[in-house]
Amino acid sequence: MIPVCRLDDLPAGESVRIDTTPPIAVFNADGELYAIDDTCTHQDASLSEGWLEGCLVECPLHAASFDLRTGRPTCLPARRAVRTHRVTVDDGMVHVHVASEVLAEVAAEEEGTAA
Ligand code: FES
Repeated sequence: MIPVCRLDDLPAGESVRIDTTPPIAVFNADGELYAIDDTCTHQDASLSEGWLEGCLVECPLHAASFDLRTGRPTCLPARRAVRTHRVTVDDGMVHVHVASEVLAEVAAEEEGTAA
C-alpha cells in the first residue's frame, strides 16, 4: 500500500503521478478515484498528463483513450490494457494498493482463513 497524497490535494478532474516502478497515475474522476499504470501501452507517454473525461483518460501523445475502471484501451493506437490498482482513502489520505500487492494480500487472507 502506497500513500499518494491528501484527498484535498486531488480535486475532481485532477491526477497525480507516483514514482513507483513502473509509475502509477491516480485520477479523481468526478469524485471517484482510480489508479492505473501511468505509461501508455502504445509508446512512452505519461497518462497522468492526459485529458480526463468521465472515466476515460486520453493519452497526450497520440490520443488513445483508456477506461480507468478496466485499464482497457477504448480506441487505437493503443491495443494493450494498462494495469489497474485499488485506491482507498484512510483518514483523508489516498493510498494505492499496487496490483501485485493486492494479490499477495488475498493469498495471505486465504491462508489465514484456511488455518
Ligand atoms: S503514446 Fe499513447 S497513444 Fe501513442
